Amino acid sequence: MTVDPIIEHEFKDRMLSLGLARVSEAAAIAAAKLIGHGDEKAADQAAVDAMRTQLDLLDIKGVVVIGEGERDEAPMLYIGEEVGNGHGPEVDIALDPLEGTTLTAKAMPNAMAVIAMAPRGTLLHAPDVYMWKLAIGPGYPEGVVDLDMDPAEAVRALAKSKGVAPREITVCILERPRHAEMIEKVRATGAAIQLITDGDVAGVIHCARTDFTGIDMYMGAGGAPEGVLAASALKCMGGQIQGRLWFRNDEERARAERAGITDFDRKYTLNDMVKADVIFAATGVTYGSILKGARRDGPWMETDTLLMRSKSGSMRHILYRQKNQ
Ligand code: FBP
Repeated sequence: MTVDPIIEHEFKDRMLSLGLARVSEAAAIAAAKLIGHGDEKAADQAAVDAMRTQLDLLDIKGVVVIGEGERDEAPMLYIGEEVGNGHGPEVDIALDPLEGTTLTAKAMPNAMAVIAMAPRGTLLHAPDVYMWKLAIGPGYPEGVVDLDMDPAEAVRALAKSKGVAPREITVCILERPRHAEMIEKVRATGAAIQLITDGDVAGVIHCARTDFTGIDMYMGAGGAPEGVLAASALKCMGGQIQGRLWFRNDEERARAERAGITDFDRKYTLNDMVKADVIFAATGVTYGSILKGARRDGPWMETDTLLMRSKSGSMRHILYRQKNQ
């Protein structure tokens, strides 16, 4: 799809990005109050409420394209909901107020609040189904690995391109029974695997910061909405991601149809998922490899936010401090 240059021009991403950081900060602070309390729903609800309130203060005509679910299942931040104060550019919003509800409830690492914004009509309306994903960080030739490769072939191809032996490669995979064969094949190459229990947006982002995380590649099936959020982050950081929707029944296929998907077998590249420039903000809820968790410091609450713009490739880590309420 070609993007109308006027829409691109009107997308004031430079100024809006700072507002976007406030949105993810608010969601993370709200969720952080419930870290370790074993209540996933309450933590998620707190993040949703806070994100919704902050979003409406932004000067945008926003529509949620990746949100908390379809209209009949999510009272707030549902797909299609209009957000913002209505004065500003028309934008698509992809969000996950709490990516890692279980991680938060159990006080485990890498839970975060995530949001991306792009000109209207440029983010893939991914339905709430699974997506098989393959992602690597920046610095590799385009197409060095492919979703259609066998996992072992992908490891070997990446190792060759990096100029190392396969055992020097680390792959991040969600620990799920559906990945048992994939894990076996990757292990057979000698590569290391970082298994994560949840949070594949962070898993993909970690590929783009191998220097901090040691992770070279992400593979496996996770949520399709999370795929678009991860692609938004990589569009800013550099790197490659491919995804293909995975339908387990007719209800999931119907979900995709409602989202406007016609080709059920399509392999999506990064630019198919994010068709124009995007801004991305993620605030740590629990401690992670890239982001510090939201934390109390005496009367203060502090957060760490990663704020990025694809147009400039700029990246900010924002330390925010507010009086603990
Ligand atoms: P929630 O925060 O919504 O619980 O999602 C966490 C998550 O781990 C995602 O990062 C991932 O894409 C998805 O769940 C995987 O789904 P499943 O737990 O069904 O394998």
